[in-house]
Amino acid sequence: ENDILEKSPLKGTKFLITAGPTYEAIDPVRFIGNHSSGKMGFEIAKAAANLGAEVVLITGPTHQNVSHSLINVIAVISAQDMYDEAHKYFDNVNVAILSAAVADYKPKETASQKIKKKNKTLSLELVKTKDILGSLGEIKTHQYLVGFALETNNELENAKDKLKRKNLDLIVLNSLNDKGAGFKSDTNKVTFIDADENITAFQLKSKADVAADLLNKITEQLYA
Ligand code: CTP
Ligand code: CA
Repeated sequence: ENDILEKSPLKGTKFLITAGPTYEAIDPVRFIGNHSSGKMGFEIAKAAANLGAEVVLITGPTHQNVSHSLINVIAVISAQDMYDEAHKYFDNVNVAILSAAVADYKPKETASQKIKKKNKTLSLELVKTKDILGSLGEIKTHQYLVGFALETNNELENAKDKLKRKNLDLIVLNSLNDKGAGFKSDTNKVTFIDADENITAFQLKSKADVAADLLNKITEQLYA
């Protein structure tokens, strides 16, 4: 009995995790997207499930695969789809970790037919997508809400600002300055900032190890 408890410290805890990029349709064959691999979000989902948590993993288009009895994978394409699914599950979770690289803008209109190359130039009008993380921050009650921040300058200040603005409990700052950290790689260099502005900087490590650090931090905060 005790053994089982120790191996599943997050048994009964429900997680919502977003991962990967979103694709915003230009026409039936084209989209605006980004190079997010989805790896970080999938590693977090696996780490949580391996600790006994029940996970809803909402993912944009990726090549990642996971098969785990405690992970429910929901595949989406666009920011709006991801927003809808995240809001569907948010009420029912204890922890939400939004690691997806959501497109900030989408085409104002999606052409219903393939756009032909008639003219010398082509302009697309873009409009903002909904901020999924920010919207959850506005409605959260009991949930422990975690966001990511990708910054290239003024990193700590920008990340702290994001933490406050989006009403988060924790933000994971991604350092892009270092080789081997970021979108496509297997490694990441992160800094955690919690709501009390405790700052913990980590060395460059595998995304699986970053996920383990993150689950440690969350478990500590939930059961402190
Ligand atoms: N995010 C989101 N929905 C969006 C945009 C971002 O949920 N439409 C989430 C990301 O998943 C991440 C956090 O917000 O957890 C921060 O993303 P980031 O791109 O760093 O910040 P933005 O708020 O989009 O601001 P900017 O890109 O201008 O820095
Ligand atoms: Ca953004």
